[in-house]
Amino acid sequence: MTQAVPTVDLPNGMKMPIIGIGTYRSTPAEIKLTINTALECGYRHIDTAYLYQNEREIGEVLKEWLDSGRIKREELFITTKLPIHANRAEDVARFLDKSLERLKLDYVDLYLIHNPVGVKGKDDDDFWPLDEEGNVTLDLDTDLESVYKGMEKLADSGKAKAIGISNFNSKQIERIMKVCRIKPANLQVELHAFHQQKKLRKICSKYGIPVCAYAPIGAPYKAQERKDGSPILLEHPTVTSIAKRLGKTPAQVLIRFLIQLEIVVIPKSTKPERIRQNFQVFDFKLSPEDMSALDSLDKGESGRIFIFEDVLKGISKHPEYTFHIPV
Ligand SMILES: NC(=O)c1ccc[n+]([C@@H]2O[C@H](COP(=O)([O-])OP(=O)(O)OC[C@H]3O[C@@H](n4cnc5c(N)ncnc54)[C@H](OP(=O)(O)O)[C@@H]3O)[C@@H](O)[C@H]2O)c1
Repeated sequence: MTQAVPTVDLPNGMKMPIIGIGTYRSTPAEIKLTINTALECGYRHIDTAYLYQNEREIGEVLKEWLDSGRIKREELFITTKLPIHANRAEDVARFLDKSLERLKLDYVDLYLIHNPVGVKGKDDDDFWPLDEEGNVTLDLDTDLESVYKGMEKLADSGKAKAIGISNFNSKQIERIMKVCRIKPANLQVELHAFHQQKKLRKICSKYGIPVCAYAPIGAPYKAQERKDGSPILLEHPTVTSIAKRLGKTPAQVLIRFLIQLEIVVIPKSTKPERIRQNFQVFDFKLSPEDMSALDSLDKGESGRIFIFEDVLKGISKHPEYTFHIPV
């Protein structure tokens, strides 16, 4: 028997498991072991994206589990995302169909607009379009309101049980709230102890939009790749000392911190032992003192790791670039 995972209520009445497995940078070769391990230890929520290029392999594992009766579709919560080269109202339905075909599913539980910026690819596979100088080829006509209206049609069709947004700033959220017929069921943003998104969380709470934290343990690979001495959240003495005292890992402490704030978390790992450990966060509780010590690690905007310019040169020239305003 696997343990039941606590859930967060979405505005449309659905329940989203508070922990899911992240899959960004999980290669097709790695992902099958990841998903099998995650399902075996009780994860029922999987976060993927067209962009991650692993939907096909995830779909193969899901099909095995579903066909064998080891799991029922309604027990799963599958999120995928509209890629930035499809940020146009007329492309939304076609790209969800592509993801569904890859995932071998009739519907996803949550479909997110991956990022407010739109780019122009040569074709559907050109999701990372660059010009000769290595700059991303921007689509300067991105119309977020009309993309969102396209998303609403997917919710009407039942192919996406819930729809939401990712990497949107407060003004973009407010714009969607002004025009939407179906409220975003979720905002997925970078969120961890160094970057706690207190202002954005307040806005989401005002609108009743639950928040999902990406990079919940601080995406250590990003700091390692930058090689600029940026501190690694998992190694911060506040985190390691709480972990040591409680007999937990630093990752478990960081995941538990967000869960106690009722934030959905999607830590990624391809290592079976870490996948298991990251899920073992329901047998302990952080004290108010520990919660307060972790709260004080917040660096506000300077704690942000994902700025996108490092992977998509020139993205900040787009009018919808999410960090044109501080929050
Ligand atoms: N919407 C968006 O734009 C967006 C952006 C980024 C991420 N996401 C989603 O959010 C998920 C999580 O974010 P993320 O993957 O960037 O960062 P993360 O989950 O904070 O960190 C993942 C990294 O930490 C390592 N790790 C995992 N568990 C560990 C543990 N117990 N101890 C030490 N290291 C550990 C992993 O390495 P190993 O794999 O080697 O264990 C991996 O390199 C993504 O996978 C993706 O699904 C969404």
